[in-house]
Order: sequence, then structure tokens, then C-alpha cells
Amino acid sequence: MENTFQQHYKLSKKERQRLHKHPSFLIWFTGLSGSGKSTLANLVELELHKLGHSTYTLDGDNIRRGINKNLTFSAEDRTENIRRISEIAHLMIDAGIITLGAFISPYLKDRENIKKTVGASNFIEIYVNTSLEECERRDVKGLYKKARAGEIQNMTGISAPYEAPTQPDLEIATENETTEMSLKKIMRFLTQKAL
Ligand code: ADX
Repeated sequence: MENTFQQHYKLSKKERQRLHKHPSFLIWFTGLSGSGKSTLANLVELELHKLGHSTYTLDGDNIRRGINKNLTFSAEDRTENIRRISEIAHLMIDAGIITLGAFISPYLKDRENIKKTVGASNFIEIYVNTSLEECERRDVKGLYKKARAGEIQNMTGISAPYEAPTQPDLEIATENETTEMSLKKIMRFLTQKAL
């Protein structure tokens, strides 16, 4: 920060939003690996796109193969992962884009920091609440099996913590409802509260 100076742009976020014809904000999906974050973020983005909205999804698995490929799953690196993503999301919101984030983001403190970075009024937290038992039963990526066998360290839910949100904007209990029901619930929430 030292010896840098805030530069001001001629074009404002408001003007960019006017061009897109909708507000811009961050929809954040948090939950265990295999809980269904990416699936839901994908479906929500598709619905928003069909409505003619400008969108983009930031997904943990993809981001960790690109800009964040130097990060591990230690507590410090997870914090850095989320810090960088919250800065990227902030830029995307400034660009007028409805941004979706699908990250385990296991620490309350880190999620609080996203809210600070993008602004509380721009942050919608969706807790994809799927029990560890169910995620482990699904084990789509085979990671839980590897973690139980000791082949993977710091696996969330097994050998690393997950701090569930206490007051999410929306909670999706994936074991009690179908994906279509969850999608409808999220879209209803967005239409009433954000769009
Ligand atoms: S976060 O904790 O830093 O927010 P992030 O969402 O970016 O995690 O990445 C999680 C993805 O990395 C998981 O969906 C899974 O595919 C993969 N992964 C690999 N190792 C681990 C691990 N030890 N714990 C959790 N996820 C892991």
C-alpha cells in the first residue's frame, strides 16, 4: 500500500449497473465438500442468465487450479484463498456483475471478512447444509475415502474444522428437499431481496 495512490475512474459502479440493468452483488455458497455448493451455484447462475442478467461463478475447485494454485488446505492458506476471492468478488461487483462463490470457506472469521470487503449489503450467504455422513456417503470425488485412509491431510469435516454459519441469509438442507426445490427457494429469495 505504501507509495500507492487511490485512482478514481470516470465511470462508476452505478453507471455500469445501469448498463447491465440490474444490481450487482455476491451470492456465497458455503458448506462441506460434496454438500452441493457447486451444483446449486451452477443452477442459480443459469436461471439468472436466462433472466438476462450478467453473472459469473467463482468455484473453489477451479480457482485452486488457477490463480490460487500455490495455496494448500492449511488454515492460513484457506484464509488467503478466501481473502483473494473476496477481493476478486469485490471487483466483479464493481464491474456490475452478479457474482457467485462456491467455497467450503470453513472459518466464520473468513466469511465475516468477505462481508467487510464487499460490503454487508452486497453479500448473501447461503449455507448448503449437508451432513458429513451424507457427503461421505456421496463421496463424488473420492476425497473422504482418501482422508479416512490418511492419504489426505486437513480434510474438512474429518481432520479440519467446519464452522457452520449461525445466521445465514438462507439455509438449504439438501437431505430434506430436491435440487429443484432448493433452486426455487434461492430464486424466490433473490427476487424478493436482491433483484
Ligand atoms: S476452502 O476451504 O479453501 O474454502 P475450497 O472451496 O477452495 O476450500 O476448495 C475445496 C475443494 O478442494 C473441495 O471441493 C475438494 O474438491 C478439494 N480438496 C482437496 N483437498 C481438500 C481438503 N483437504 N479439504 C477440503 N477440500 C479439499
